[in-house]
Amino acid sequence: MNSQITVWIFELDRTAGDLTAFNSWLSGDEAQRCARLLRTQDRDRFTTAHGIMRHILGKMTGERPETLAFVRNAHGKPSLERHESLEFNLSHSDGLGVLAVANGFPVGIDVEKIAPVEFALAEVALSPSECAELASCGQHESPTHFYRCWTRKEAVIKVLGLGLAQPPDIYDITPEFSREPRLLRLAGRSETSAIWELFHFIPAAGYMGALAAYGRGHSLVLNRWTPSAV
Ligand SMILES: CC(C)(COP(=O)(O)OP(=O)(O)OC[C@H]1O[C@@H](n2cnc3c(N)ncnc32)[C@H](O)[C@@H]1OP(=O)(O)O)[C@@H](O)C(=O)NCCC(=O)NCCS
Repeated sequence: MNSQITVWIFELDRTAGDLTAFNSWLSGDEAQRCARLLRTQDRDRFTTAHGIMRHILGKMTGERPETLAFVRNAHGKPSLERHESLEFNLSHSDGLGVLAVANGFPVGIDVEKIAPVEFALAEVALSPSECAELASCGQHESPTHFYRCWTRKEAVIKVLGLGLAQPPDIYDITPEFSREPRLLRLAGRSETSAIWELFHFIPAAGYMGALAAYGRGHSLVLNRWTPSAV
């Protein structure tokens, strides 16, 4: 099995010409979801994220971007019709998008723009041991540490195709910010951390990224998307 995971990184603010092309590739479902966004900038960024995802997955499947068909599970996780073994996951935050692609095993990815953190939010989002560690770090480091913790949790949830409505105690991840993250326990699953891998990456200055995958020994390849890079 090819254990490579490719992460594509892309800016979401693009030219009018790019937007016109991306817009023409969206399905009816995507166009409807896009139209529900209130701000023009959010609609443009959604269109770009989905356009670039279609471009990359189209190249990998040999299909045209506009003919790819997606189905979504009960929590909204998309997968590809006709190319079920090609696994992917998209994440976008502010002006940046990332897409993880793998063959034959599910992946989850999350990117977040690093911003000041209210401790009250951290108390809801993180476990007690993670909160304790956050409280012990200086004001300067705490946003980075918070988003490191937060993105790795979301990446795990996104591999499983679940949503954030899950109780926060369904899993334990090593809390130490300074060490590589490991999944220690996942409720309701007999598999343990031994067959999961978590990675962190910095997709751009001011952003934090995390990726989670089933299996061991994966290699992570980070690429900047351009129309000719795929
Ligand atoms: C999945 C979820 C955790 C992502 O949160 P987020 O940080 O706001 O979003 P990200 O930018 O990281 O990821 C969004 C992308 O992940 C993918 N995605 C959507 N739902 C997903 C899920 N349950 N699992 C994995 N990936 C998912 C989509 O490609 C989505 O992109 P899109 O919204 O442009 O179509 C959040 O959307 C959630 O909790 N969803 C579940 C809601 C739910 O259960 N709804 C039921 C009715 S659909």
